[in-house]
Amino acid sequence: MDEKTTIMEPAPSTAATPSAASVPVAATAATATAADTSHPIVFLHAISRRFRQGRSTLEILKSVELAVWPSQSVALVAPSGAGKSTLLHIAGLLEQADSGEVYVNGVATSKLTDVQRTRIRRTDIGFVYQFHHLLPEFSAVENVMLPQMIRGLKKSEALNRAAELLSYLGLKDRLTHRPAELSGGEQQRVAIARAVANAPRILLADEPTGNLDQRTSERVFGTLTQLVRASGVAAIIATHNLDIAAQMDRRVTIREGGVVELE
Ligand SMILES: Nc1ncnc2c1ncn2[C@@H]1O[C@H](COP(=O)(O)OP(=O)(O)OP(=O)(O)O)[C@@H](O)[C@H]1O
Ligand SMILES: [Mg+2]
Repeated sequence: MDEKTTIMEPAPSTAATPSAASVPVAATAATATAADTSHPIVFLHAISRRFRQGRSTLEILKSVELAVWPSQSVALVAPSGAGKSTLLHIAGLLEQADSGEVYVNGVATSKLTDVQRTRIRRTDIGFVYQFHHLLPEFSAVENVMLPQMIRGLKKSEALNRAAELLSYLGLKDRLTHRPAELSGGEQQRVAIARAVANAPRILLADEPTGNLDQRTSERVFGTLTQLVRASGVAAIIATHNLDIAAQMDRRVTIREGGVVELE
């Protein structure tokens, strides 16, 4: 039996797939919108993850099924300790599950080498952490240039794209600021620009505004959702903010270790 073709057919999504608007970021993220929308871009299949704590074992994720289609935005809303970060790390190939499979664009990633997985992470996946994780000794624009240069882009091309993205996110006058010379909201916007710098197909954000005040958080989220829609990237965003979750195409939670659709 061809496992890949049989299990790559979860129920079709009912959510709309917004088309790319003609904004600067969309041009370079065009690969995401050009993707085959009949298959999920990321598919977590039968994912289980447990942690051993002394003599007991915590089963955090139990046979999780989650398929996300190109251009779709999914809010992951679940209580603290439910396994949101664990799920995002597994989907982002930062951590491996104990069992199950993560398909990225139809490719079973557990069968790949570390080098191949790293390549997928660099080209197809962007990750935004709760705390920005920017490199403190580099400026905003350099932080956004780095992933592109690691991927092999020329410095001038990386600079143009980084400046364009940061301008799009309202940071045109902050390009040369180091992280410590930026506000919390500005740091998170730089982190968002860095995550999408290589025009990923999948954007994973782990409570990206968790450490910001409500107004700043809403402003950063506004930019993030605008960018997600404009670029056609598929996004899974962990958040506690239900107003923000309401703006996404879908809302899911983690209940007794399984991912369930809300509403
Ligand atoms: N490396 C680890 N070893 C042992 N237990 C762990 C490990 N990582 C996570 N856990 C446990 O797994 C559970 C889920 O953790 P996770 O960080 O995924 O939760 P979360 O939903 O992101 O929570 P929060 O909203 O607080 O960020 C927690 O109870 C945590 O203690
Ligand atoms: Mg977490």
